[in-house]
Amino acid sequence: MLIAPSVLSSDFSQLGNEVKRMDICGADWIHLDIMDGHFVPNLTFGAPVVQAVRKFTDKPFDVHLMIDEPLRYMPDFLKAGADIVSFHLEAQSDPRETIAAIRAGGAKPAIAIKPKTPVEEVLPYLDDLYMVLVMTVEPGFGGQSFMADMMEKVRALKAKKPDLLVQVDGGINPQTAVTAAQAGVDICVAGTSVFKAEDAREAIDALKAADEQK
Ligand code: DX5
Ligand code: ZN
Repeated sequence: MLIAPSVLSSDFSQLGNEVKRMDICGADWIHLDIMDGHFVPNLTFGAPVVQAVRKFTDKPFDVHLMIDEPLRYMPDFLKAGADIVSFHLEAQSDPRETIAAIRAGGAKPAIAIKPKTPVEEVLPYLDDLYMVLVMTVEPGFGGQSFMADMMEKVRALKAKKPDLLVQVDGGINPQTAVTAAQAGVDICVAGTSVFKAEDAREAIDALKAADEQK
């Protein structure tokens, strides 16, 4: 299982150094949460900030777009150095066009689904996707509780397409990571449990150990 620390819980005044610290502490990917204050009731940062921190690590940038019009801003995020781009199926852009734009920019496409979105809605796109992000909290804020019932979606996706990568995001800690690993999750996003830990390396190691406890 891969671990993608979410910088949403980092010290934003030190964002570049926080990205570097996660790299040194064993992060597999760096998860960057983009919120526009419309799709979710919160604001974070945009492509210029992604570009500014790109030079602090060579690890893949996993950009999670929680914005109304992902297609409109896609060129900016691709130019900024996104490697994997997740956009929400509930957003306004056409999913097929958005997937095509991500691939044309040399990045890997993923669709994210909110807790209330049935997994069936993403099935028509699976053959075009690198990954599906199953949200395990309502998107918008860090520090919420993991929704274990979302693991049914993970199992359904893995049953349908075993080589598809499945990511979960929200409420991941060493205990919930075991539940995720048992369901077949490939990548866990973790904000609070990594950034608020005294020792980020230990926190990342503890999440990776979840895989062996399944
Ligand atoms: C929530 C974000 C998450 C968030 C997770 O909308 O997509 O990436 O940072 O934070 P924790 O791990 O604290 O639930
Ligand atoms: Zn996220």
